[in-house]
Amino acid sequence: MSHEPVLAFEDIVKKFGTFRALDKVSATLKAGEILGLVGPNGSGKTTLINVISGLYNPDAGKILFQGLDITRWPMHKRARVGINRTFQIPKPFKSLSITENVALAYHYGSKPAMNPRQALDFVGLSHAASQLALQLNSTQQKLLDLARALAAGPKILLIDELAAGLNHQELKVIADHVQLLAQQGIALIVVEHHLGFVNQLTNRVIVMNAGKEIFQGSLDQAAQDPVVSAVYLGTGS
Ligand SMILES: Nc1ncnc2c1ncn2[C@@H]1O[C@H](COP(=O)(O)OP(=O)(O)OP(=O)(O)O)[C@@H](O)[C@H]1O
Ligand SMILES: [Mg+2]
Repeated sequence: MSHEPVLAFEDIVKKFGTFRALDKVSATLKAGEILGLVGPNGSGKTTLINVISGLYNPDAGKILFQGLDITRWPMHKRARVGINRTFQIPKPFKSLSITENVALAYHYGSKPAMNPRQALDFVGLSHAASQLALQLNSTQQKLLDLARALAAGPKILLIDELAAGLNHQELKVIADHVQLLAQQGIALIVVEHHLGFVNQLTNRVIVMNAGKEIFQGSLDQAAQDPVVSAVYLGTGS
């Protein structure tokens, strides 16, 4: 496994009008690493995923994929080289079957990848393969979204809030699966409110608040950090 970062982003700024949703956020990620991205509502977590996946262009800063500057690449081109994501609110093709949804991602993604059957097995949705996506509940839609990302052959997988709605047992299964993906060399950024879930995955986190990174390091250290505590207790700036 290479020691070069598979992903590096530097001083990312994303503005909506004059509002800075991201204000100089930076990190690097190696193959097989899991980075947790945590912080209160509206702190910029999804926006960062949107910028890395190419849904939004940053107003400043640089994104490197395997050393290549992809800052201005469109989303579909990033998806094809293996930068894939799930959505906080999944938007499957509701009138297509679950298998068809995953097959589309497989067709357009990078190879090698899990084929649709393998991806559905992996997330535990094989039993529902022929159902229409609109028949799924919101938790299952999140798992379908994950299956689609896996079938696209990710080298970098950006997961935006998978844990909400999953029970303790389901969370454990998903956490084990996510770790398996990392062991296969996929680099993951996991956005999550559920710190217990993050703790099962990784000890490396970025804590965001108001578009800024306020902490980067281990989850254990984050828990001791006064600025982080203040933000989580609602008394911080
Ligand atoms: N397309 C947009 N247009 C305008 N403002 C936006 C847009 N997307 C995000 N924002 C704003 O940017 C800030 C960061 O939003 P973002 O969705 O990244 O937060 P988040 O950390 O993912 O929050 P949550 O935990 O609630 O999902 C918020 O104030 C949000 O209202
Ligand atoms: Mg979000």
